[in-house]
Amino acid sequence: MLITFEGIDGSGKSTHVAMLAEWLRKQRYTVRVLREPGATPLSEAIRGVLLDAGQRIAPVAELFLFCAARRQLVEEVIRPALAAGEIVICDRYADSTLAYQGYGRQLDLEMVRRVIGYAIEDVVPTVTFVLDLDVPTAMMRRGERGPNATDRMEDSPHAFFERVRSGYRAIAAREPSRVVLLDATEPIEVVQERIRAIVQRCLPTGVAIGAG
Ligand code: TYD
Repeated sequence: MLITFEGIDGSGKSTHVAMLAEWLRKQRYTVRVLREPGATPLSEAIRGVLLDAGQRIAPVAELFLFCAARRQLVEEVIRPALAAGEIVICDRYADSTLAYQGYGRQLDLEMVRRVIGYAIEDVVPTVTFVLDLDVPTAMMRRGERGPNATDRMEDSPHAFFERVRSGYRAIAAREPSRVVLLDATEPIEVVQERIRAIVQRCLPTGVAIGAG
């Protein structure tokens, strides 16, 4: 099964990804954790271009680059892992593209959905967690991580992240059977408990246990 985590920068995705992976591994599931864009040599190279603050990238070019990186990841890693019965957890996936390039950059949503569809084909997440957080709090949390320079995406104006956030909420409203919206202002343990309860219900029984 494929589990994805989504949310604006600073929403706490990576923490929840790590906690969930650890919990699943303790139950002896074979878990593969990936981050997007990245996780294959080509995807990491594309990531370098996409996050380079010195690049000027046209919105549609940006859309194709994220989707190119994702297609490579799907073919090289995700599809084979799923075929082997592993649980794949992705820190960002297709909904990032719809939220950031579609809602954030204000590209035509139907066009963006089509391009995403070409990139991922039938590799659709079993469940997607959207960590919902107001933009000022997310920015504050990001600032607490340290004085690192922001990357090209993080250089975007406040209004861009407001659009991304409402995009995520719209995605969750449109696909309630797949997408779970979580209040990321709640304590980490509370949010993680909800995540585990939902994952527990989707867990495959009797496959991929024992090897990892
Ligand atoms: P990253 O440093 O991984 O951010 P985070 O830790 O918040 O996940 O950088 C990924 C950036 O790329 C982030 O700002 C979101 C953006 N992004 C898109 O705009 N579209 C996409 O399809 C993906 C996967 C990421």
